Amino acid sequence: MWEYTDKVRDHFFNPRNVGEITDPDGIGEVGSLACGDALKLTFKLDDKGKIIDVKFKTFGCASAIASSSALTEIIKGMPLEEAAKVTNKDIADYLGGLPEQKMHCSVMGREALEAAIANYKGGATKKHQLEGRVVCVCFGVTEKEIERVISENNLTTVEQVTNYCKAGGGCGGCKGEIEKIIQRIQGEKAVQKAAAREKGQKLTNIQKIQLIQETINEQIRPTLRADGGNIDLIDVDGNKVIVALRGMCAQCALANITMRDLVEAKLREFVSPEIFVEEQKDLADELRK
Ligand code: FES
Repeated sequence: MWEYTDKVRDHFFNPRNVGEITDPDGIGEVGSLACGDALKLTFKLDDKGKIIDVKFKTFGCASAIASSSALTEIIKGMPLEEAAKVTNKDIADYLGGLPEQKMHCSVMGREALEAAIANYKGGATKKHQLEGRVVCVCFGVTEKEIERVISENNLTTVEQVTNYCKAGGGCGGCKGEIEKIIQRIQGEKAVQKAAAREKGQKLTNIQKIQLIQETINEQIRPTLRADGGNIDLIDVDGNKVIVALRGMCAQCALANITMRDLVEAKLREFVSPEIFVEEQKDLADELRK
């Protein structure tokens, strides 16, 4: 059973803007019934280029319906150029989050919007087009699309990539290549961050705490979540960072290894080599009794 937010439930039970505009300016179609998810998006512009009406028809699960409904609410009234910048993360955030295994529904919304805008601009086919080399032949997912979901959502595992765009969810033959793409994108990000750190002066306390929180959110939490765990930042005292492991990680006998090889290693890599991490002790001991 999936854990849905109230907003997802609301948009699933009361979807907004369902249907099809009879004389649309743009039409976007993505997915297929054979794959289990399909979405058709139509929009109408006013004479200033704002989306005055948008409707969707979808075949899929509760998350697909809620994501499509949310997308229409987000872009209604927006200038087309602004709507073109909406990401799958915007859709998921609008809904207060989606179960990670359902994030591909938010990606489907973004793809349908892109196809509809391309259809309006160039009269191109209304079908979502594959751009670049196909990496996952089972689901027809290209390298470019995989790079994009990794980058926009800061994904760090193959499983996450599968949840976001289905690549890797069939025969599994493309998993090795997905892993290499993750390493390349995350490596590039690390280099950029290191360069930015080197360029910048010494971090103030507030900047340091922000960078620690950002590193936890982007580099550490996704890995822990994939194993049913989580982490909270409790305090920062000089180079000492105090955290609390949550969920499965809090009760895990291997928590010390997680703290050293994941939490401390990432904070040293992204914040400062002087960082050392401590776990909030009393709570940790209590949970492992
Ligand atoms: S080629 Fe990607 S799962 Fe089969």
